[in-house]
Amino acid sequence: MTSDLTDRSRTALVVLAHHRADSLTAHIARRTVRQLEASGYAIDLLDLHTEGFDPRMTLADQPDWNDREKTYSPEVEDHMRRILAADIVIAVFPIYWVAPPALLKGWIDRVWNYGFAYGRSKPRLAGKRMLWLGLAGAAEDDAITPLMHTALEGQLSAGVAYYCGFTDSRIGILPDAEERPQRLDAQGQLLIGDAVTGAEREAQYSALEARASTIVDDFLAGDRVSA
Ligand SMILES: Cc1cc2nc3c(=O)[nH]c(=O)nc-3n(C[C@H](O)[C@H](O)[C@H](O)COP(=O)(O)O)c2cc1C
Repeated sequence: MTSDLTDRSRTALVVLAHHRADSLTAHIARRTVRQLEASGYAIDLLDLHTEGFDPRMTLADQPDWNDREKTYSPEVEDHMRRILAADIVIAVFPIYWVAPPALLKGWIDRVWNYGFAYGRSKPRLAGKRMLWLGLAGAAEDDAITPLMHTALEGQLSAGVAYYCGFTDSRIGILPDAEERPQRLDAQGQLLIGDAVTGAEREAQYSALEARASTIVDDFLAGDRVSA
């Protein structure tokens, strides 16, 4: 891990979207926080589940196309302030059905709202950078893995971050995030291998952590260029 960033005034919003504190996703999020701290960032960790965020759209947070100055619910307004305060945003989440989980999707739906994230000639989020770090059960060499990358690029980078004026948005996929390897056979059957244990499991998780660390470092290198 490189850590030569010296500007300690930059803030990273780390958004964790998982329902279990002992999940691999939460583990990777905590490691990412430490990596960012070591690189000099002030951290705002937004743990959506622990903070009780409800991903369901509400009347209060539904956009009003006639009023881009609408004041949304206090919770959403608070989350908007947290995004505004961040130079970079890193979302860490499990990939569910080739997409972000409902918890993260609902956060985008409710918080990345009209008049705040889009709908202005000068986007408020312009200049910010985003990393979407998704853990995947699929194996690295599974044919679905590059397809997931392409799908998330379309949904999250083009469809959300760039639409909202972000300068840079990247997808990082961490495959092999299950203790039992998964793949589809030619007939579409889900093949679940034996649980990986002991030293093999340690190596699997070390590889996952190293991959996450490299993705974050590459992303931060882009921040050093643009800062
Ligand atoms: C509802 C659901 C849908 C899933 N869909 C996918 C998928 O589309 N692609 C994939 O690679 N893994 C998929 N998985 C596997 C998860 O990505 C994997 O369990 C998770 O990343 C492991 O991390 P965790 O222990 O932190 O939950 C899915 C899991 C669940 C529960």
